Amino acid sequence: MNADPYIRRRELLAQKIEKGVAIVPTAPERTRNRDAHYPYRYDSYFYHLTGFTEPEAVLVVIAGDKPKHILFCREKNAEREIWDGFRYGPDVARERFGFDQAHSINRMDALMPDLLADQPALFCHLGADGAWDARVLGWVNAVRERVRTGVSAPRDIADVRTLLDDMRLIKDEHELATMRRACEISAGAHIRAMRAARPGVGEHQIEAELLHEFRRHGSQAPAYTSIVAGGANACVLHYVANDATVKGGDLLLIDAGCELDGYASDITRTFPVNGRFSGAQKAVYELVLAAQAAAMVQVKPGAKWNEPHDAAVKTLAQGMLDLKLLTGNLDEVLEKESYRQFYMHRTGHWLGLDVHDAGDYKRDGQWRTLAPGMVLTVEPGCYIRPAPNVPAEFHHIGVRIEDDVVVTAAGYEVLTAAAPKAIQDIEALMAAR
Ligand code: GLY
Ligand code: MN
Ligand code: MN
Repeated sequence: MNADPYIRRRELLAQKIEKGVAIVPTAPERTRNRDAHYPYRYDSYFYHLTGFTEPEAVLVVIAGDKPKHILFCREKNAEREIWDGFRYGPDVARERFGFDQAHSINRMDALMPDLLADQPALFCHLGADGAWDARVLGWVNAVRERVRTGVSAPRDIADVRTLLDDMRLIKDEHELATMRRACEISAGAHIRAMRAARPGVGEHQIEAELLHEFRRHGSQAPAYTSIVAGGANACVLHYVANDATVKGGDLLLIDAGCELDGYASDITRTFPVNGRFSGAQKAVYELVLAAQAAAMVQVKPGAKWNEPHDAAVKTLAQGMLDLKLLTGNLDEVLEKESYRQFYMHRTGHWLGLDVHDAGDYKRDGQWRTLAPGMVLTVEPGCYIRPAPNVPAEFHHIGVRIEDDVVVTAAGYEVLTAAAPKAIQDIEALMAAR
């Protein structure tokens, strides 16, 4: 465990706060039924600042003349550790994770009012959990009750996430190294899926190949529910049933990415189940690939968030006209947004600890400007449901191609390049199965 990146981030948060205190809790455990829990996932904001993955933990950062990083966590407990496994306990956690102080979570209510006393501002995580909000305000009120002793309670209460969203948007080298590895594992899983696909295989069996590849390389979990969508299922944008059998002659759309040490990867590949694209499939696929290339070249420092999307839409709209999926001219199609019959989502999102990561897309009404260290997906698609204006050969073709890119000083770097996407590369890989 190298605590340095986390210490640096806490120091940066303290600089942004200037004077005051931040309280950031991790996520609660959630019951699935009776005494069984969902697999535990820590809170992304908390983890970004601590690297600490146990439940029942709270970070306090005190900014100002006497800065302090404090962790509240579970105590050592020989009995519970027999049942549930190792827990650090405050002493070891303080040392390993680079805190100035660490205390038992059981002492939090007793100690927190003292930590808040005489702090001008409190930055916290309000609005996500009513019980947590009440507890935080209880600590503030406990300080207010002592004003006659000469202490003052925080006068300003602000959302710490506003500060943290901006920090999370720009990935540091430590984060990029993890994301590169997550993307590499996911690319390998897509290759494995291409090798495993053949007519008659169940979508769930392909999903199992993906999960196997994620886990055997150390990924703790998928970053989101995998989409394994054969044929017409590819036109259901959030298809996650994955319970149909794939057919020769159909395309298979897979949107799947692993989470590694907290960081998401997010890849979509679309390929023919039998290993050869038909004429109509090839036409739609080449169009989406061209749209992705057009979007990708817009990814560079100084570009606005919407520029990759607008470039993808323009390419797709022209292609839809060329394929006679739409009528009219390009200006009309863009003006009336008639392309939305076949392309109804946006071309990407921020990527990081969350698959749809923290960070605004607009600031003061203006699209955000791209800067080095931002990581985003570029994921155009084309989903053709039967309709009177659609030639039959295109019915049920759904294609999305999604890569993860980091903005660099020179433009962009594709983190997911190891997953094949050129038609000849996919066909060659599948022919060699
Ligand atoms: N897999 C989620 C997304 O592509 O946005
Ligand atoms: Mn995505
Ligand atoms: Mn995706």
